[in-house]
Amino acid sequence: MTLSNPWAVRQLSPTRYAAGLTLAGGPLVHRFEAGHRLVAGVTRSGKTYTINAMLCCFAGRPDCAIVGLDPKMTGLTPWHGRATEVAQTLTEIDNAINRCIEVMNLRMVHLANQGRAHWTPADGPRLCLVCDEFADLAGLNTSAIDRSAPAREVIEQFKAEKSNAQIRTANMATIARMGAGLGIDVVIGTQYPETQVLPSQIRSQLDVRLVHRVTSKEQLAVCLGQGRADELNFKDIRPGVPGLMFVTGSEDHEMTELARSAFVDVPDVARYAARTAFMAWSWDDLQLLRSVESKARHDLQAGSMSSAQASYVLDTAA
Ligand SMILES: Nc1ncnc2c1ncn2[C@@H]1O[C@H](COP(=O)(O)OP(=O)(O)O)[C@@H](O)[C@H]1O
Ligand SMILES: [Mg+2]
Repeated sequence: MTLSNPWAVRQLSPTRYAAGLTLAGGPLVHRFEAGHRLVAGVTRSGKTYTINAMLCCFAGRPDCAIVGLDPKMTGLTPWHGRATEVAQTLTEIDNAINRCIEVMNLRMVHLANQGRAHWTPADGPRLCLVCDEFADLAGLNTSAIDRSAPAREVIEQFKAEKSNAQIRTANMATIARMGAGLGIDVVIGTQYPETQVLPSQIRSQLDVRLVHRVTSKEQLAVCLGQGRADELNFKDIRPGVPGLMFVTGSEDHEMTELARSAFVDVPDVARYAARTAFMAWSWDDLQLLRSVESKARHDLQAGSMSSAQASYVLDTAA
């Protein structure tokens, strides 16, 4: 196992990365296997930058597959190339969610056949399903509605959109619930931490919480639970300090701490993505349940990975 990884923000140990500082002066730690995450905060509070800094930590790992859901069509675009897919239209997003469910089912059968209950690194990569603005998936997408249509049709369109949003939310909740033992980690970014957007089936699955500036005690309670929200003051994160957040829920940040994300600007994110693109997992790789090793051998043979790159992957995986 190599300890210095040239593609990461800063690697602390084989599975721990630093991508920022806590107010106490320690590292803001992202653990590769920390589970599902919430990244909340009002618009321009630094959510997308936090998500991208975290992805920069993981992108240099050959055992990390990334699927982005990016309905705002901006934040995750630098990851094209490194990601399996960055889905942007709602049709692409629904397809990507369905493919993740397919992969999840295949992984379940794979483990069942072996009589095991937990995904291990030898089984294949962790799949990080990142959604930058969950409200655009879970809420009513009124922009898609053609209001010039006859009234009855407009009503039908509203009904269809509502049911699509419900299906998407239910699917994401299923992935969060079942994915935990199957090497699938969900990252949910949202500027609307409200109970209507983040139902409790999803909220209760989120292990790590990265909560940037919110606008009310109620929002803080949705993000962190009532108990913690009562102990904290949401006004401690003032406007104009993007990237500042309450962090809690991981082994490294069990107590709620204030921390600020590392600033990795968009061109640098794109550079990280380009440099690590040879480690991208295709849907085929995921659906065929390729292991890190068999993928490297396959890519080497297909010519999509150089022998130096394949050696890096095999050395890192070993
Ligand atoms: N960790 C950070 N340190 C300094 N500036 C930051 C940081 N994170 C974000 N910013 C600045 O704040 C702006 C908004 O951040 P962004 O992540 O796009 O917010 P959001 O996704 O919450 O709308 C960015 O354009 C960037 O200039
Ligand atoms: Mg954003």
